[in-house]
Amino acid sequence: MKKILFLALLSLAFTARAQVVVSVHDTATDQPVIPAEIYGQFSEHLGRCIYEGIWVGEDSSIPHVNGYRTDVTEALKALKIPVLRWPGGCFADEYHWMDGIGPKENRPKLVNNNWGGTVEDNSFGTHEFLNLCELLGTEPYISGNVGSGTVAELAKWVEYMTAENGSMAELRAKNGRKEPWKVKYLGVGNENWGCGGEMTAQYYSDVYKRYALYARNYSGNRLFKIACGASEADYEWTRTLMKNARWDMSGLSLHYYTVRDWNHKGSATEFTAEEYYDTLTDTYAIDEILTNHIAIMDAYDPERKVALILDEWGTWYDVEPGTNPGHLFQQNTMRDAMVAAINLNIFHKHTGRLKMANIAQMVNVLQAMILTDGPRMLLTPTYHVFRMFNVHQNARLVPSEARCGTIVSASGDIMPSFSQSVSRDGNGLLHISLANPYLDKAVKVDVAFDQLRPKTVGGEILKASSISSYNEFGKAPAVAPAAFRDVKVDGKKLTLTLPAASVVVLEVK
Ligand code: AHR
Repeated sequence: MKKILFLALLSLAFTARAQVVVSVHDTATDQPVIPAEIYGQFSEHLGRCIYEGIWVGEDSSIPHVNGYRTDVTEALKALKIPVLRWPGGCFADEYHWMDGIGPKENRPKLVNNNWGGTVEDNSFGTHEFLNLCELLGTEPYISGNVGSGTVAELAKWVEYMTAENGSMAELRAKNGRKEPWKVKYLGVGNENWGCGGEMTAQYYSDVYKRYALYARNYSGNRLFKIACGASEADYEWTRTLMKNARWDMSGLSLHYYTVRDWNHKGSATEFTAEEYYDTLTDTYAIDEILTNHIAIMDAYDPERKVALILDEWGTWYDVEPGTNPGHLFQQNTMRDAMVAAINLNIFHKHTGRLKMANIAQMVNVLQAMILTDGPRMLLTPTYHVFRMFNVHQNARLVPSEARCGTIVSASGDIMPSFSQSVSRDGNGLLHISLANPYLDKAVKVDVAFDQLRPKTVGGEILKASSISSYNEFGKAPAVAPAAFRDVKVDGKKLTLTLPAASVVVLEVK
């Protein structure tokens, strides 16, 4: 019955006139800046994210610079990654940083209990991560071990990385790095309600304060301490943390994955139209989840001193057939590009409180930017959205709204039939990101400015022959951006047509 209703709605949608009006309030003042950190990434010791994906070691035949593969790091630079979270994830609460420093041949081997029992040799440790951040020009976000570590261990790690003097600084120098690094973001545990120690919110909030207290600021380095936050709609966790520990934190995290059923996640590449719209309604749900967590934070912290940090988000499907179930390797289609675009547009709206988001994960894991296969590498549709949208980083939000209809999924969920966001960068250029989620119809869009009479407009479009198109190793890319010129300027208005299931970013002067 639901399916018949869905098909009827789809055919109605197909015949109905698809028209959207985006009103852009370009005269508005006092709007927040979109923090670059909304475009953050996450890299865990999980599957082939670090090993092979980023780090191939100094002896590898894969082209590299000091062990970092050249193809991947060059592609990542184009994303302008503002912040990179490491070493986990669940891995973080079993990671002992002292195992990952000093001569590589002396580093102990570790069984990665969370992720497939893989044995790793700790050849990628603190120096390798912080040097990677320097190579990419990105801010490090260290995720500390609270679940199985000690207060002293985390305190010493901070000292090792950031102090100019003392025995930790001497040890660091002995290991090849005299100057301390600057480390801004420190996560005090990860998912401590689950893989990070199965704690209650009350208990964790006390533990948090103890760990946070002894993580000191050395040599001019100022830590931005992030407490472990809730999963999805666990509002009680946010309430308890804000009530008990808000004075001691700079940020509180949140994790939200786009997944319908954790027991039947579905294929990344083979899905029906119904499943596609289900994925989108699950992704749109983050808007309400952010709104509700922010409302709780506002009640305790009306001055918005504590940032909301969405340090894990993205799609989570079944692993690719034949791959290790613990390695979370999934393909990435035009559906994922749509998910990325919708999420980023939503995040922009919440930047009064939401100050960072880290998509999971950067390479070869979950909704990745890049996939590798030995020496081969490809850019995913999600990569292209991140590259196209990075013009919004540090730009000032320009309020906008879309007059559009709704899409009702087969499951009865309702979502907006259009997604948009607008910002103005430091050079006065307006950037407008638009997404048409309809699978079967193009949408005519009028962009109406309050005041601006555009002189020039350029843009890029991402679309594919099918929503399940993806890029494959050794083949010409099936999903790649192209120039978009089909925009008419008429006084204070732009008119364009977005093809079905497409993402467009415009630059307006
Ligand atoms: O990103 C994969 C895992 O998802 C992380 O390790 C964990 O924090 C979350 O459950």
